[in-house]
Amino acid sequence: GRIVVLAGGLSHERDVSLRSGRRVAEALRSAGLEVEERDVDSSLLPDLLASKPACVVPMLHGETGEDGTIREVLDLLGVPYVGAVAEACRVAFDKPVAKTVAERAGLHTPASVVLPAESFRELGAAAVMDLIVERLGLPLMVKPAKSGSALGCTVVRSADELPSAMVSAYAYGTVALLEQFVEGEEVAVPIVDDGSGPRALPVVGIKPDSGVYDFTARYTAGSTTFQTPAKLSDELTAECQRVALTAHAAFGLRDLSRSDLIVDAEGTVWFLEVNVAPGFTETSIVPLAVQSAGLDLGTVVADIISAAAR
Ligand code: DAL
Ligand code: MG
Repeated sequence: GRIVVLAGGLSHERDVSLRSGRRVAEALRSAGLEVEERDVDSSLLPDLLASKPACVVPMLHGETGEDGTIREVLDLLGVPYVGAVAEACRVAFDKPVAKTVAERAGLHTPASVVLPAESFRELGAAAVMDLIVERLGLPLMVKPAKSGSALGCTVVRSADELPSAMVSAYAYGTVALLEQFVEGEEVAVPIVDDGSGPRALPVVGIKPDSGVYDFTARYTAGSTTFQTPAKLSDELTAECQRVALTAHAAFGLRDLSRSDLIVDAEGTVWFLEVNVAPGFTETSIVPLAVQSAGLDLGTVVADIISAAAR
């Protein structure tokens, strides 16, 4: 039957999602599937109810897309879809909550402080800076608690950079997560499950020209060098894949995920986050890992779909 790729939506990652959706739809068409690309609007529900697609691929990034909302709607409609159920998405998308889940699963996550905008206002920037720098040291990563594509994220190298970093993070939500900045190799590991169980794809190494894997480095072709596979020892490669598989299981994810990690100089693998609707753009990591494994993107996604739609 017909496959509906949901892309766009109203999150800050709308344009990224449109690019991911286009790429997935094209890959599926070349694998011989009948595909409709669909944005999210008020006619989506009646359309899905009337057309009863064989499966929905939610390529929606950010709020609504990755926080579980859209999947809750799909569950209500009784439409099969690729990826984790709403509850698992909600937990994975909330970075502070996700850190506690990852830690309970035995993974290392950077030391952190969670700071609601209200507390930041009440305490005042100066007091917060003293507290945070004493607790976590410098440099720091400041992030919105719920966001993607590094939007609102800033590396803070000196205390005077903190106030503007907080403002950037609060532009995307009412809670900020401040984490110790872990120096090391940035890598990502996709997990795919075509019905035979979750398996890790090759580890991808991320080397942004600017040194920081920000929005520009993510989506401007040529601004980041990817190592496929990452230049790591066999032991560290296996450890990164183990961490990604552990996260996939601990969060109760299904079908597809991508864990973002840092490998430090001592060989410790740090878990940063897991994405339930990872990017599939021309510069995204999952398609690179698929290619590096010698696989065809359309075939891989089609296999995931047929497992998910069963
Ligand atoms: N949030 C973007 C789409 C990613 O993680 O790939
Ligand atoms: Mg993310």
